[in-house]
Amino acid sequence: MGFPIVEDLSLSRLVTPYESRKSPIYRWYNLNHSYSRKLVLQLLEDFGIKPGDTALDPFCGSGTTLLACREKGVKAVGIDLLPLSVFVTYSKLLEYSAEKVISDFEQIYPVRQGSFGFDGAKAYLAKSFPEVELGKLLELRRVIYGMPQPQRNFFTLAMLNILREISFTKNDGAFIRFKTDVEPGKLESEFPRQVKTMLEDLAGAAQSASDNHVLRADARRIPLKEGIFDCVITSPPYLNRHDYTRIYALELLFNFNENTDTLKNLRYKLLRSHVEARRTIEIPDYKPPARLEEMMERLQHRYLPNKKVKEMIWGYFEDMYAVLAETARVTKQSGHIAFVVGNCRYGGIMFPVDEMLAEIGENLGLKTEKIVVARYRGNSPQQMKKYGKESARESIIIWEKSL
Ligand SMILES: C[S@@+](CC[C@H](N)C(=O)[O-])C[C@H]1O[C@@H](n2cnc3c(N)ncnc32)[C@H](O)[C@@H]1O
Repeated sequence: MGFPIVEDLSLSRLVTPYESRKSPIYRWYNLNHSYSRKLVLQLLEDFGIKPGDTALDPFCGSGTTLLACREKGVKAVGIDLLPLSVFVTYSKLLEYSAEKVISDFEQIYPVRQGSFGFDGAKAYLAKSFPEVELGKLLELRRVIYGMPQPQRNFFTLAMLNILREISFTKNDGAFIRFKTDVEPGKLESEFPRQVKTMLEDLAGAAQSASDNHVLRADARRIPLKEGIFDCVITSPPYLNRHDYTRIYALELLFNFNENTDTLKNLRYKLLRSHVEARRTIEIPDYKPPARLEEMMERLQHRYLPNKKVKEMIWGYFEDMYAVLAETARVTKQSGHIAFVVGNCRYGGIMFPVDEMLAEIGENLGLKTEKIVVARYRGNSPQQMKKYGKESARESIIIWEKSL
């Protein structure tokens, strides 16, 4: 295939949430899987995007693409299947009045003890928080839910932000672990601290009027007309087995009316980047990347930690075909598409996801301009021990629609 693979390691931090964790408003809630504001700003500039142009992020996560577009006066649409991601993106983009936030904050204190009403997530929540903190959280939630908009979203976001901090659990990006080294923080100090940070951001950042929409939808079936976006900037889930419904179970159960059954259902429907996702969509024209079959053949004889890994790998490329077909459909002629992706190793075999997705794009008629390698990541300790060290690329694939 005739496209260049170039290295630009100055982007290594920008494909992580490092910088967004310090940027006003972006930092109100980050996923461990987010990229940074500066990456989006740079891509918008590289693609020659001007104020009034349109952008799409079909896996909008914590809203990085949409916020950066707002800064530049670019109209943007975000899509995500996880209610947490849709809520976070939407809430970061609302316009808030600091005076109203301050005045409503007075209703909240002191936080009294509350109790469970009907709550399908009772058992999970009860083991995740100290009893007294959970009582206060439930009361805080009740008071916040009674507030007018948009303050209700502002305080809900602040509450979501501190949820981990005051729980027994921590989220390391791939798993939920129980804290053994530190005591959980206290709601009474963490919540006002977070509200104060968010208020400072309101004072500092220009909240320009913007034209943004966030949809809860599936990136494999984008419910929009064709040829409407000047660019697409996104990062799909990586082929790394991370299951967002488990990683963010606490947030989903606490605030999104999920219970363990609805959560399971959502788990099946997400992109097949983790082993429990299922084939929920028919993809009739799918053609796998050329080397996939041969790689899967080699994997046949390797030890895998989970027997569903093979099915997941097949499913991932099939789903990404549907995503790319849909992305190409809604992009304008000569528009640019950027996907931030990570290569992955299973059974000692490195899957060059970036090149394989570039090939899928080409099969769909997109022109791959280049793959930019932003950083190299280490392998899991198990892979290293068994097969030695081989770093995995994290890259940005850039296509142009020139069908
Ligand atoms: C890597 S994260 C995106 C992070 C984002 N770029 C940011 O800066 O925060 C991937 C997102 O894809 C979402 N997702 C998974 N399967 C999906 C699907 N089939 N359709 C739409 N979104 C999906 C997840 O909920 C998650 O929010």
